[in-house]
Amino acid sequence: MALPTETVYGLGADATNLEALQKLYRLKGRPQSHPVIVHLHSLEQVKDWAIELSDSFYILAEKFWPGPLTMIVKRASGVLDAVTGGQDTVGLRMPSHPVAIDLLKEFGGGLAAPSANKFGRISPTTALAVKEEFGSELKMVLDGGACDVGIESTIVDLSGSHLEPRILRPGMILPHDLFVALRKRGENTAEIHVKESASDVETPRVPGALPSHYAPVTRTDLVPSHLLHKTIEQYADRKSLAVISFSALSVEGLNASNLIVAEQDPSAYARALYANLRILDSLKQSLIIVEEPPQTPEWSGIRDRLLRASSK
Ligand code: TXA
Ligand code: MG
Repeated sequence: MALPTETVYGLGADATNLEALQKLYRLKGRPQSHPVIVHLHSLEQVKDWAIELSDSFYILAEKFWPGPLTMIVKRASGVLDAVTGGQDTVGLRMPSHPVAIDLLKEFGGGLAAPSANKFGRISPTTALAVKEEFGSELKMVLDGGACDVGIESTIVDLSGSHLEPRILRPGMILPHDLFVALRKRGENTAEIHVKESASDVETPRVPGALPSHYAPVTRTDLVPSHLLHKTIEQYADRKSLAVISFSALSVEGLNASNLIVAEQDPSAYARALYANLRILDSLKQSLIIVEEPPQTPEWSGIRDRLLRASSK
């Protein structure tokens, strides 16, 4: 079954049911060694999943849950290897989408919910996109409308093998937001310093960290703003280009219906990003060109997804 969350749609399975988890992995086409996030509706449930929780965990939970933050913590005994990928940690998140919360309350347990896309493809942000992804393979999609955040949750590792929280996957909750929340509560900021290390995550246990994740089928290039016009102009078959830019472009030969002018605000840009990529991908043109967003921190989650979408 697929469910809406505020980030992207997820494929839900009882995280204590091995058979359900195996079915989920098969449906996604995802290797079994890759861990999934357990979704919860209350802080009380955390003790069933995790041990040795730090003050930082509770501070961040209080500040950012329910919401688009996943925390990697030491797993409790009994948590299935199929959930953790055989590691001694588990990823926990409390989503804020009302439909997800209602479902979780009704269900009562922890729900494993990877993004509702085939392995390596763009995450869906509408119920329709989920249906298109899986067709008759998937029995039920709960339609909660378009996702508000639009890219997957920020993942922070608090599992303690190192003193500092580490960002494993950037998202719309920024390292600075975590830093401020921890500092305000008197955590020693000299030690608890949020390191933005997503680009040098050395481990393949975060599939989102594989270079070709989140990719459209169509080849996708990221182009810096100052080269955008020129790059398009120099392209021989401009009719076969699809473009996401920050401003209207007039280049002769460029098909206006292949051009999406994106929002300047990072939250609005993220909300529309995957839908925009899906639209342009469905046009089956020869190349998608995306204007590079600014280098500033608010764009880091978006830049991360675009870099992966465009890597060969
Ligand atoms: O926003 C989201 O997080 C969405 C919605 C549906 O909640 N879910 C999502 O799940 O993006 P998925 O499975 O597509 O990505 C989860 C990421 C993977 O990259 C996985 O490797 C990582 O979380 N992850 C889960 N448990 C982990 C663990 N114990 N250690 C390290 N990484 C972990
Ligand atoms: Mg995913």
